[in-house]
Amino acid sequence: MEQYQDDQQPTDLERYVGLSRRRFIGAGALCGAAMFMGGSLLTRSTLAQAVEAANSPLLGFDAVAAATADTVTLPPGYQAQVLISWGQPLHAHSPAFDPSGRADAEAHALQFGDNNDGMSFFPFPDDPERALMAINNEYTNYRYLYEHGGMPLSAAEVHKALAVEGVSVIEVRRQGGQWQFVQGSPYNRRIHGNSPLRFSGPAAGHALLQTKADPKGLDVLGTFQNCANGKTPWGTYLTCEENFTDCFGCTQANQPLDAAQKRYGLTPASKDINWHPHDERFDVSRTPNELNRHGWVVEIDPFDPKSVPVKRTALGRFKHENAALAQTREGHAVVYMGDDERGEFIYKFISRDRIDHANPKANRDLLDHGTLYVARFDGGDGHPDHPKGTGEWVALTHGQGGLDAAAGFASQAEVLIHARLAATQLKATRMDRPEWIVVSPLDGQVYCTLTNNIKRGEDGQPVGGPNPREKNVYGQILRWKPQADDHGALAFEWDLFVVAGNPAVHAGSPKRGSSNVTAQNMFNSPDGLGFDAAGRLWILTDGDMSNTGDFAGMGNNQMLAADPATGEIRRFMVGPVGCEVTGIAFTPDYRTLFVGIQHPGETGGSTFPEHLPNGKPRSSVMAITRADGGLIGA
Ligand code: FEO
Ligand code: CA
Ligand code: CA
Repeated sequence: MEQYQDDQQPTDLERYVGLSRRRFIGAGALCGAAMFMGGSLLTRSTLAQAVEAANSPLLGFDAVAAATADTVTLPPGYQAQVLISWGQPLHAHSPAFDPSGRADAEAHALQFGDNNDGMSFFPFPDDPERALMAINNEYTNYRYLYEHGGMPLSAAEVHKALAVEGVSVIEVRRQGGQWQFVQGSPYNRRIHGNSPLRFSGPAAGHALLQTKADPKGLDVLGTFQNCANGKTPWGTYLTCEENFTDCFGCTQANQPLDAAQKRYGLTPASKDINWHPHDERFDVSRTPNELNRHGWVVEIDPFDPKSVPVKRTALGRFKHENAALAQTREGHAVVYMGDDERGEFIYKFISRDRIDHANPKANRDLLDHGTLYVARFDGGDGHPDHPKGTGEWVALTHGQGGLDAAAGFASQAEVLIHARLAATQLKATRMDRPEWIVVSPLDGQVYCTLTNNIKRGEDGQPVGGPNPREKNVYGQILRWKPQADDHGALAFEWDLFVVAGNPAVHAGSPKRGSSNVTAQNMFNSPDGLGFDAAGRLWILTDGDMSNTGDFAGMGNNQMLAADPATGEIRRFMVGPVGCEVTGIAFTPDYRTLFVGIQHPGETGGSTFPEHLPNGKPRSSVMAITRADGGLIGA
């Protein structure tokens, strides 16, 4: 009861964000965001008018309770249908999904990939009823991929695992008011772990990227472990290679590992993936440089099914989560990126050249030239509820800040290939696992999930600043405001938008979380993020779903919506058993929300979405609409 009273008071956080939002708008911060949003601006103002006309709050839906059911739970008036699931045949001649686990790599390469993650929606410019979607397929679950349910036992089985990861490009059409997948579209395409890609940018061709199969270091086989994504203003898709190191191992006993291999987390036994005994490409003992050819951001043109995807080395090599696009006041492209590992960093890239909005094709190589920066945060003011402080971006430029041959960096290519080591040299701030980053369409503030970090407080990771809790099991959402509201600025102010926690179990301790967390909306491990055009912040979780102990009362993974101005957070959706909720995209009219249900039944206990007797669960993209056809979330 005391908690209820507590939660109904306007909090310091609410006052703070309310004030800061007014200040931004007063300062004309909309200009940068407005220029960047381009075509969506009209939609936003229409939407804002609709919200005002109805005199409804930003969050206009009824909150759903935490749940543990094997289904998608939504507020009253909302409905979900499956857009596409793992194994869906893409082409007219594709084989049907075979749940036995006996299908081979060739069959899977003709089907929608496994474990969908980040995704973007690309409308056809001349037909509002058609669009393409590019959707990441992050990894696979051997429990369901193979008939034997265990580690791969042959080169053919490794090939099959590679064939279900990567990216799927699909066409969708609106039919009868619902967006539907179009089997047989000539745009449908898989880019997977065996597909041809190329390198570009400063590290392309470098000796560290050369292998026996590719002596020039320019052509690379495959993209895999594709976590989240980005969408450029020139109409291309960015897919981010995350846990690539886990795919590698060493067959040579006592293989010595160098500093970079250790820092990127290579373990000779491979981490639960075990491709290296069967495919020498993944054996660092036999193909040491293959490891350097992954961990990049890849750019794909979804409208050209024959295009070769490009690994953009100027954006640095690390365990990329997603890529959030913005624009400097001068018109240069900005890409914000997190490196998802305990104690790793937040980066941004600023292009050398300006975006050419009139001629999208002129931006084809924009991401090959520019400067990569890493973030340094100060210790902040230590406020118990909503700490805030300042920070700066430091350039990862060869020859500056000690990034020279004496420190192990012979060139800019080596700075980028070993970005983690270079950023350490620059004393970047070690963060609580940076996951997604998004930019507010209203005021240009940048939000980043710091999902959790049980090692905070040890291992050279001091408690404080934007990482305020030791043994952080819940996570927080960091936000920063670029100086003068210019994404080109090298200084910023930060605060924590929410510190997740459990007020029902840990009242009176830092594990309670910030005051905008209540017993009704609590969650852990924020991961995916998305903004709609009205400025609702959508939060997707990938957390502990045991519903006991620290996590009692939180239920399955979920999606929430927040009002950045008031700090209010409301639970919108709960996913099925064992899933992660990840990947978010809206249609331009904001009447359909696509959300990803990844790895339902990760450790069993789910038959989502088909609920067949003895059925296997299948990762799926859901299309969520309102029964009355209204705006999602309003
Ligand atoms: Fe693929 Fe860090 O999540
Ligand atoms: Ca994630
Ligand atoms: Ca995660």
